[in-house]
Amino acid sequence: MIPEINDPTPSTEIAKQGIREVLQANDIPTLEKVRIKYVGRKGQITTILRSIGKLPAEDRAEAGYFVNKNKQEFLVNYETRKEQLAEGAQEVKEFFDYTLPGERPPLGRRHPVTRTMEEVAECMMQLGFDWAEGPEIEDEFHNFIALNIPENHAARDPSDNFYIEDDVLLRSQTSTVQIRYMEEHKPPIRVFAPGKVFRPDTVDASHFYIFHQVEGLWVDKDITFSHLKSVLLMFGRMMLGSDLKLRLRPSYFPFTEPSAEIDFSCFVCGGEGCSVCGRKGWLEMGGCGMVDPNVLETVNIDPEEYTGFAFGIGIDRIVMAKYGIDDIRLIFGNDVRFLRQF
Ligand code: DAH
Repeated sequence: MIPEINDPTPSTEIAKQGIREVLQANDIPTLEKVRIKYVGRKGQITTILRSIGKLPAEDRAEAGYFVNKNKQEFLVNYETRKEQLAEGAQEVKEFFDYTLPGERPPLGRRHPVTRTMEEVAECMMQLGFDWAEGPEIEDEFHNFIALNIPENHAARDPSDNFYIEDDVLLRSQTSTVQIRYMEEHKPPIRVFAPGKVFRPDTVDASHFYIFHQVEGLWVDKDITFSHLKSVLLMFGRMMLGSDLKLRLRPSYFPFTEPSAEIDFSCFVCGGEGCSVCGRKGWLEMGGCGMVDPNVLETVNIDPEEYTGFAFGIGIDRIVMAKYGIDDIRLIFGNDVRFLRQF
């Protein structure tokens, strides 16, 4: 049993210092010098060991025990370090300081598209709309037929869509979720549906084959075009600033009548004209209109009793303008050097 007494010699402190130097030695010659310094013929530990004989007889056993134990400890560390250096290990092994503050683990960040989508959801929910979702892999019924897009319509062209099978494709618009939602719910209906859509566009700084849209749909008794205008304007101002202006240009979509293109005044330059809006002062955001009676009939909602509006807004344009991103490919590249900036 090890006696419960303290080392009466300075060997413990000396050995500790010796071990520190052993661990810090980065080459064999340095390590050798350390060995000689401590356990060589005139080494510090050797000298203490020799001096034990001069101690009073009753102290010798105890001192011998400690000095030998410390010498042993030193030698074990020396041998291990020697092996490491022989294997080419160069790193300085240092005593670990437990009082140092810890290192923060790197935290991930939300993608600018995710953030913008969350803002969109926040605004739409404040306007009383519920969140709806639909599948990214769709059938022709929900992507085209129920949306009043006839068989020979250009939008159905195989070269403009990612068909997986004859009747199955990656959805080309979030308008599909209008149909899915109306199949399952009766009016009043007030939903928004954010998500990815897919079209085989030729890729360049402003086109990619995946992009993000948010769809809006409100169907109830006596819903009019002025409801549509106010919701779009409120949404735009909540998202992008209270000075934002809305401009609707007459247009055509098979699933709405009348239909319009949505322009927001450029929220980067405030409508003055800048490089983001191409000096026009306006940004094209998407399309909208009053839900076509044919669409309502397809999902068994009586168009004599109910009316509604729908809109689809592109999200990536907003993200790019907001964060000053001039190439849409960066949004989808997921390069951490890019993403870390946000
Ligand atoms: N789905 C259309 C597109 O992707 C956008 C759109 C236009 C959605 C009019 C609508 C709408 O809901 O009413 O180009």
